Amino acid sequence: MAQEGQELINLIKANTKIIQIISYETLLIHANLANAASELGRELYLWDRVAGIKKWDTENRSWVMIDEDARQPERPFSFFDEHKDIILLLEDFHPDMTENQPQNIKRLRNAAMGGNEQNRTLVLSQPFRFLPRELEKEVHIIELPPPSYEDLEVIFKNVCESFKIPIPDDPEQDLIEAALGLTIMEAEKAFSLAYIKSGQLTSAEVPLVIREKENVIKKSGYLEYFHPKEELKDVGGLDTLKDWLAKRGRAFEKGAADFGLTYPRGILLLGIPGTGKSLTAKAIGNLWHFPLLRLDMGKIFGGIVGESESNIRGALNIAEAIAPSILWIDEIEKAMSGISSSGRSDGGTTSRVLGTFLTWMQEKTKPVFVVATANDISQLPPELLRKGRVDEIFFVDLPVEDERKEIIKIHLQKKNRKPDDDFDLAKLAQKSKGFSGAELEEAVKEALFRAFDEGRTLRDDDILNAISKTFPLARTMHETISEMRKWAQSRAVAASSKTPEPLDEWQNDNIPKLRQETYSNPFLKAKEK
Ligand SMILES: Nc1ncnc2c1ncn2[C@@H]1O[C@H](COP(=O)(O)OP(=O)(O)OP(=O)(O)O)[C@@H](O)[C@H]1O
Ligand SMILES: [Mg+2]
Repeated sequence: MAQEGQELINLIKANTKIIQIISYETLLIHANLANAASELGRELYLWDRVAGIKKWDTENRSWVMIDEDARQPERPFSFFDEHKDIILLLEDFHPDMTENQPQNIKRLRNAAMGGNEQNRTLVLSQPFRFLPRELEKEVHIIELPPPSYEDLEVIFKNVCESFKIPIPDDPEQDLIEAALGLTIMEAEKAFSLAYIKSGQLTSAEVPLVIREKENVIKKSGYLEYFHPKEELKDVGGLDTLKDWLAKRGRAFEKGAADFGLTYPRGILLLGIPGTGKSLTAKAIGNLWHFPLLRLDMGKIFGGIVGESESNIRGALNIAEAIAPSILWIDEIEKAMSGISSSGRSDGGTTSRVLGTFLTWMQEKTKPVFVVATANDISQLPPELLRKGRVDEIFFVDLPVEDERKEIIKIHLQKKNRKPDDDFDLAKLAQKSKGFSGAELEEAVKEALFRAFDEGRTLRDDDILNAISKTFPLARTMHETISEMRKWAQSRAVAASSKTPEPLDEWQNDNIPKLRQETYSNPFLKAKEK
């Protein structure tokens, strides 16, 4: 926070006419402005639509009402014009500067144009980013980061004080860390609730604080705290990818940074549906023992103009606050599709959100590992595929025979069967050419139904029967898959070291196809253009 406080002082000193502060932390904003005002010998005023205008009393460190009739949004502007050597904070002014209030936008532009000799600064504070286009060049934006470890330590001590329990000199580190990513008020609430529930505030209360944090994160709508059960041993095949993850994960070990290793920034998993991309993403959380946050890109695009951008920033802030963490963006292409036309359709919001995300990917210093998955390569914006954004782009192909053996084994074991003793895995794998992991799993499930229905143990022929009744996606979509393979050869690393099996035998297949399974597939269409 100290850093942003100093930036604020410098901006006011430099005669910046309008500063916008983005934060939920009202009290923190007040404290910073009060500090800046006293440092620069200015008077500080506050306007909001409920209270009117108040003045900051430096001695008593509190607000004093000076004009409660000044609630109308035009009032602070005349006040501003009549005073010198002031900082005027307009709290939550954003609903008054939409395109329906051109007068207010004009008033702000006028304020931005004022002379330098009056020493007047207008500050707009609001919880999320929103600024009319007309003001983009006039306003300097500061974004307050969520409270730091040190801030949270102070909050923790305040909570201890309010419950009249001894304040530890050195509060337990993991308890404070558990609150990272929360706002001041949320952290206060989390510590208080934990104390009320268990009568103490120690490491034992970490799960309580984390649970509260999960609730807060879920409320955002676009992030979800994920507790995957999946581990890397549940993923069959994909040896190259697994090996990469194991090696790169070591960068988080003690001493690795001193040795010169840098944190991995992220991977993109591209490939055929049902081949274990989402499964692998979940398994990484358990492999590295980091919190896994799933980002729903679709939900980032909120209702109000400008909200999408503040949503993405909010999400990235939370991921950074709880770093080291994993940020999983499933089916990233769904949200990014149509990026080239978005300039027309949504005022460029999609491309600005993508821009924010990509810049962050490149510049982030906190250990947030991004796992993005996609199966429709044609819909991905090229910026995302450019070298340097992620550490590696992996192409996940259909499993080859050996890998299918592994996958069938995993799924039989999950159902408490003994695959090595009771099943002919080699034959099952041989007969399921072209099947994805998801289809193999389905075949095992289907076979279980048949065996149960006939009142006997599960046998090979149940699985073989299920396999023979399935048309794998590879058969109906072999053209698309061949194209994807060609594309991937030059742009991605194969997630498996095995040579993919050819799909030629389905070339002249005459089975009926859905429209999306044939040449009208978007991937092929994009290529035709
Ligand atoms: N390599 C694999 N090993 C074990 N199980 C697998 C594998 N691939 C897929 N599965 C099974 O299929 C399910 C679905 O796979 P997953 O959701 O990971 O596919 P995906 O690649 O993300 O597909 P999509 O592109 O459609 O999202 C998994 O939960 C898992 O049970
Ligand atoms: Mg998936």
